[in-house]
Amino acid sequence: MIETPLTLPCGTALPNRLANAAMTERIARPGNLVSDELVRLYARWAKGRPGLQITGNIQTTHDHLEAAGNVVAQAADLDGLRRLAAAAKAGGPAIAQISHAGRQTPKGVNPAPLAPSAVPLAGTGFDHGAPVAMTPAQIEAMVAGFAETAALCREAGFDGVQVHSAHGYLLSAFLNPLANRREDAWGGSEPARARALLAVVDAIRTACGPTFLLSVKLNSADFQEGGFTLSDCAQVARRLQDAGVDLLEISGGNYEQPAMILGGRRDDRRESTRAREAFFLDYAAELRGSVTLPMMVTGGFRTRAAMEAALAEGACDVIGLGRPMIADPDFPRRLIAGETEGQPDPEITPRSAQMAWWYEQIVRLSNGLEPDHEMTGEAAMTAFRAREAERLATYQAHWRAG
Ligand SMILES: Cc1cc2nc3c(=O)[nH]c(=O)nc-3n(C[C@H](O)[C@H](O)[C@H](O)COP(=O)(O)O)c2cc1C
Repeated sequence: MIETPLTLPCGTALPNRLANAAMTERIARPGNLVSDELVRLYARWAKGRPGLQITGNIQTTHDHLEAAGNVVAQAADLDGLRRLAAAAKAGGPAIAQISHAGRQTPKGVNPAPLAPSAVPLAGTGFDHGAPVAMTPAQIEAMVAGFAETAALCREAGFDGVQVHSAHGYLLSAFLNPLANRREDAWGGSEPARARALLAVVDAIRTACGPTFLLSVKLNSADFQEGGFTLSDCAQVARRLQDAGVDLLEISGGNYEQPAMILGGRRDDRRESTRAREAFFLDYAAELRGSVTLPMMVTGGFRTRAAMEAALAEGACDVIGLGRPMIADPDFPRRLIAGETEGQPDPEITPRSAQMAWWYEQIVRLSNGLEPDHEMTGEAAMTAFRAREAERLATYQAHWRAG
């Protein structure tokens, strides 16, 4: 049942099964510091009483961001991170998603981002630089960066972290044979491709101890010919379980094949997926044959019926909610109270305005406003483009000057 508490192996008790899935906010202050708006956003979401709050991706280093407006973990911003953690924890446990964007870093942030191999992104429609293959020393430094970021989050009061190893960002690219063409100890076979992620997990556990909630977000598959497969995923999941991960979140896709937003491969949307709502639930159910660690599935859940069915069949233990938390920040509380049975997806046109629309609603929430369901796609896109340009200019002025 969605309202049933769950205690994770680290000892953290989730008051219910509905998690606020990580959603990048892009509203950091200049210098990529925690802003008042960001604190307000998580305070708002805390009122919706999710069983677990997961922040949008906080970056381990300022030169590999998912977007110019990301927060970058910095010791000098400990007070900001403390305020963020306290706001997010007002309704229950909260963890910070931590990430390194790798080759998906926008060109304006870094024209030569580090990656497992020098394989550029294909056909994403976004502007990315030419990736540079990491040296083993750079990989070790990246691993240490994740551990330092996790330790900082712990000091700030977060209950744990989620390592972002999905959606094509650096650790996910290491897992993907199309992006990782290395022939050294960090590429090739599945254990070698998983080595970077496992090293990050081990380093965080060593730095933060056994009671720190350690979650990993992992693709069920990349949905690309020759890419990361469900069978790879099952093996990585077993390794993560053995390494003592507390909560495995299953998603899918990357910038080249955005299944996390669109739902599975466009030409292969399963009948069963439509019925069960959640894009990756069938994959999670298959993974259950390989692992017993607590699992969360994110993507597509909209109704209580589908959530209850997924929990009842044991396909997952926690339901991840992304866009529904933006459309109705009180969604978990209202579902559990029986005030709603679910929510439909808003009609956002044109389709290309989708993400802009969600980002602009996040800005509204962060300014203390409620979501505006009447916002048009065109208006969202115009506002979003202007905002992103301004954020990039702010980023460049700060880091290039410094
Ligand atoms: C605005 C927005 C920002 C997102 N940012 C992140 C992120 O920072 N990290 C991440 O792992 N997933 C991110 N996602 C993906 C969501 O966590 C989730 O996997 C996806 O939206 C599918 O779930 P949903 O159908 O409930 O929205 C983002 C999604 C949206 C809509």
